[in-house]
Amino acid sequence: MTERVVLAYSGGLDTSVAIGWIAAETGAEVIAVAADVGQGGEDMTVIRERALACGAVEAEVLDLKDEFADDHCLPALRANALYMDRYPLVSALSRPVIVKHMVEAARRYGASALAHGCTGKGNDQVRFEVGFGALAPDLRVLAPVRDSGMTRDKAIAFAAEQALPIDVTKSSPYSIDQNVWGRAVETGFLEDIWNGPIEDVYSYTADPTVPREPDEVVITFVHGVPVALDGRQLSMLQIITELNTRAGAQGAGRLDMVEDRLVGIKSREVYECPGAITLITAHQELENVTVERDLARFKRGVEQRWGELAYDGLWFSPLRRALDTFIDTASQHVSGDVRLTLHGGRAVVTGRRGVASLYDYGLATYDAEDTFDQSLAKGFIELWGLPSKRAAHRDRRLAGGAGA
Ligand code: ARG
Repeated sequence: MTERVVLAYSGGLDTSVAIGWIAAETGAEVIAVAADVGQGGEDMTVIRERALACGAVEAEVLDLKDEFADDHCLPALRANALYMDRYPLVSALSRPVIVKHMVEAARRYGASALAHGCTGKGNDQVRFEVGFGALAPDLRVLAPVRDSGMTRDKAIAFAAEQALPIDVTKSSPYSIDQNVWGRAVETGFLEDIWNGPIEDVYSYTADPTVPREPDEVVITFVHGVPVALDGRQLSMLQIITELNTRAGAQGAGRLDMVEDRLVGIKSREVYECPGAITLITAHQELENVTVERDLARFKRGVEQRWGELAYDGLWFSPLRRALDTFIDTASQHVSGDVRLTLHGGRAVVTGRRGVASLYDYGLATYDAEDTFDQSLAKGFIELWGLPSKRAAHRDRRLAGGAGA
């Protein structure tokens, strides 16, 4: 029987060429799997047709938008996951859902190998291959762009030679990866890290410097899960999508950063994540109000680690699963409403309320209703500072000073 390979297909130049390239190199039949994770752009049926026209024996387009939102974006939100304190992990979150469905397709079609079109310099090759290994250690991996000399020039030549239906002139100067959680843009003039991004780079967000009326939104959470906007019950996918539009229209969620890739390279990336940043901002604030102090402090460490695991391609690791169990417990009381003003490139919290709130007006107020017994503070501070005071006495004694 002819060998079969399942390829992660985007519809772009590289993966279109990879279909024929893999077939020519290995004699295998290529099954193209294209995932809709909310990237927008071309119609998925057009992408399917293109895969077949490029020589795929089968092509599947999978609508993974809800699964991606519920099983990948939502855990990231509950983890307030921001790599290097800033990047909401757009690409890192989408690879595992694609991997899962590629493996399922491989089983359906009896394939013996999985393939991706990543280069050897980025994080995504790691995420794909570590994911493949975790879910299907028996399958072989093919990476034609990285391992068999499929450079961009050769890909263009191959496309022309085979008369593949892809418009190579349409290809953008940027490398772009986008989904419902956000958009990542790199290469081109952005590789000079002193060059500022021009408006042309952005598509999810409007120019935040243009004067416009602000927007206001109330996000309702139950157990750390956003369930409604302005009182309308919506799915996770609908909430992210609507916030992408509304926060994006105010220019919120733009980021320009140099990040540490897993492969050791520092690279410059421009992101726009209006929905993700708005949701994380709101969620963090609701946690500030509803999560007990020590649990909140500990969770910040968990969040950092969670973000690193997702970034580093370890989505399918036992540690990520265990951290999710912790986050689930920590989210038990994260219920309530957060109000934000979306304006001038920012999502700013202006109000929070909910039955699970730990905020006690009587304890906090400086007005007549004050219920806090200030006399208790004096003794508390004596004991709290006792170890430092003893150490200071010791130091002065050993230094031969007075007051020992
Ligand atoms: N640097 C980001 C990550 O590793 C995005 C990678 C894809 N970016 C791109 N512009 N093609 O998650």
